[in-house]
Amino acid sequence: DSELLQARLGRRYPSITVVDRTGSTNADLAALDAPDRTVLIAREQTAGQGRRGRDWSSPGGGLYLSVLYRPGISPDRVPWLTLLAGVALVRTAASFGVEARVKWPNDLLIGGAKAAGVLAEASAPGVVVLGIGLNVGPLPESVRPGPGGLPPTSLGVDVPVLDVAVTLLTELDALESAWRGDSGDPYPSGLLAEYRSCCATLGQEVRVELTDGVLVGTAVRLDQDGTLVVRDGSGREHTVSAGDVVHLRP
Ligand code: BTN
Repeated sequence: DSELLQARLGRRYPSITVVDRTGSTNADLAALDAPDRTVLIAREQTAGQGRRGRDWSSPGGGLYLSVLYRPGISPDRVPWLTLLAGVALVRTAASFGVEARVKWPNDLLIGGAKAAGVLAEASAPGVVVLGIGLNVGPLPESVRPGPGGLPPTSLGVDVPVLDVAVTLLTELDALESAWRGDSGDPYPSGLLAEYRSCCATLGQEVRVELTDGVLVGTAVRLDQDGTLVVRDGSGREHTVSAGDVVHLRP
């Protein structure tokens, strides 16, 4: 499997490893001093990690994928990586005929339920491990409601998990190369527009649980740096960074 994927994607990713089972692909990659764009895919995880220290149910039939990046960009731009992952997931779902949207910052929603989650971790200075868990086949009963109380769902397609991985990695590469590239525009405007157009959160009434309090208001726009702007009842605008959100509810 690893060779097959390497043959299909090798030019873009120097090392792609597929394993049947591991604890957590994020934890494995974070422990390696690996080159930029090293990929690890597992068919099953026994200790899958979600955001905010939660578990990520990872039974067989899902895709558990992590990419280690050494983007060589300023740390304040790193949050965009997780937004790119959301767009890559929406594009991937579309390529299999499934309409999906993103709940800011990066939960993949299909029919209002969560089909994928993204966990980005800075494992060392200048190193980001981007982990994506995507439910692909029929959802086993063991998968519990996701963070924020969203019911879980799945892409619901009968496609080999590794075919989904190839599409996802291809889209991720296209987006991430453009974002990292030296076009001179640190926030490619096309990307921002695409994110906005597939974001289910904009325009909604939201209740945001932050690390230091609760904010209730309307999600009015997404700023260029990827932060969400929420207008409260008194008309004051607050910017919310992805890292500060504990829960975001409609
Ligand atoms: C979330 O809480 O929404 C994020 C879930 C991220 C799960 C993925 S699966 C691949 C990678 N390895 C992990 O242990 N977690 C991420």
